[in-house]
Amino acid sequence: MHTVVVVVLFPALVVGSIGINYGQIANNLPTPDNVVPLLKSIGATKVKLYDADPRVLRAFAGTGVEFIVGLGNEYLSKMRDPDKALTWVKTNVQAYLPATNITCITVGNEVLTFNDTALTSNLLPAMQSLHSALVALALHNQVSVTTAHSLSVLETSYPPSAGAFRRDLAGCVSAILSFHSKTGSPFLINAYPYFAYKANPKQVSLDFVLFQPNQGIVDPATGLRYDNMLLAQIDAVHSALSGLGYKKLPVHISETGWPSKGDTDEAGATPDNAKRYNGNLIKMMMMTPRKGTPMRPNTDLNIYVFALFNENMKPGPTSERNYGLFKPDGTPAYSLGLAGIDTTTVSSNNTSTTTGGTPPSSLTPPESSSTGFLSISAAPETVRYLGLIGRRLLPLMVGIFFFSS
Ligand SMILES: *[C@@H]1O[C@H](CO)[C@@H](O)[C@H](O)[C@H]1NC(C)=O
Ligand SMILES: *[C@@H]1O[C@H](CO)[C@@H](O)[C@H](O)[C@H]1NC(C)=O
Ligand SMILES: *[C@@H]1O[C@H](CO)[C@@H](O)[C@H](O)[C@H]1NC(C)=O
Ligand SMILES: *[C@@H]1O[C@H](CO)[C@@H](O)[C@H](O)[C@H]1NC(C)=O
Repeated sequence: MHTVVVVVLFPALVVGSIGINYGQIANNLPTPDNVVPLLKSIGATKVKLYDADPRVLRAFAGTGVEFIVGLGNEYLSKMRDPDKALTWVKTNVQAYLPATNITCITVGNEVLTFNDTALTSNLLPAMQSLHSALVALALHNQVSVTTAHSLSVLETSYPPSAGAFRRDLAGCVSAILSFHSKTGSPFLINAYPYFAYKANPKQVSLDFVLFQPNQGIVDPATGLRYDNMLLAQIDAVHSALSGLGYKKLPVHISETGWPSKGDTDEAGATPDNAKRYNGNLIKMMMMTPRKGTPMRPNTDLNIYVFALFNENMKPGPTSERNYGLFKPDGTPAYSLGLAGIDTTTVSSNNTSTTTGGTPPSSLTPPESSSTGFLSISAAPETVRYLGLIGRRLLPLMVGIFFFSS
């Protein structure tokens, strides 16, 4: 039997705001009850689902974890009907509030880049019906409605200042942006520097895509320097939004990640690269003061890592089934290389918890002192969220050690 001992520097108050995508296209995942401690072990405070799985929403009641629930593309045409939208919101959102903190509904995933005109034409009407349902239930101030886009909605993404939407999508995107602006919901983008690397491993610098030290690139139009591709992609989205007149719309990264395994023609899909990408990304998210992007330095990044688990039933190349931070048995797919103190023991289909088992000093990780990672204080947004403005908090850091017994 495998047992994962997750070692966490667990402060009295959780800081940082790491989001994670909890996909379930698999037949071998642990029960949602057993996922609660796994999620805590990586310090995730926000979860994005692709559906509104009642088992998950019930398991996380009272945990304080914030949820985005999703509506699959196959439901969009139905949701145009206001009665069906109302019923859906009552059953899948209202029923779990307030114990489970659902804050957002994503209507469809990457709809616009399927190039399916019928599907595309249903998107905004479905979003509108769901928003109206929330208004009718007086939930619109706590739950927002949005949709997640693929980065390929952009026709140009480099340099970041030249970011622009595909011309054929501009009309439809504008209408959606107007909806966001009126209802106060964010623009969601799925952004994978991995795809850029895989498509062009000889030209794209691995250090630049993995957040490793590198000379970066300078956007010739703005003079802004980019140390990594993800931030460049996010700023390309900012430019595209500005181009349509929506400069102030908040952009959230609904998915980003790196696979730990791929087919022979999938360059870069290795455990080492996945560890660097996701480990460095999580460190960046926990850094304080949290940095935004070069174009929006004062905006807090809101990022959901893809994904919690490797999903064995996903179609497509091998990489598609290997984005998880965890294997289905609950053991880490690879070490993230971060570290801390408290101990939590998690087994694959059962859970028991030991806290305070090991004193911090004996577990001080080699990496932490050299990165200055131990002296992080809370990000402004987190402080607001906790109602503790101005107070310094301990960082939440994570180390995962795997034992076989
Ligand atoms: C739970 O784990 C035990 C021991 O590893 C295994 O024999 C059993 O089949 C598992 N049960 C489920 C439902 O996965
Ligand atoms: C739910 O999450 C939102 C956003 O972080 C927060 O403002 C709100 O207080 C939370 N609600 C509960 C009941 O925890
Ligand atoms: C959708 O259309 C765009 C623009 O014509 C094209 O570049 C893209 O490859 C198409 N995508 C799919 C999945 O067919
Ligand atoms: C989990 O393990 C505990 C302690 O070993 C045991 O008492 C409990 O019955 C187990 N639960 C499940 C669902 O296997």
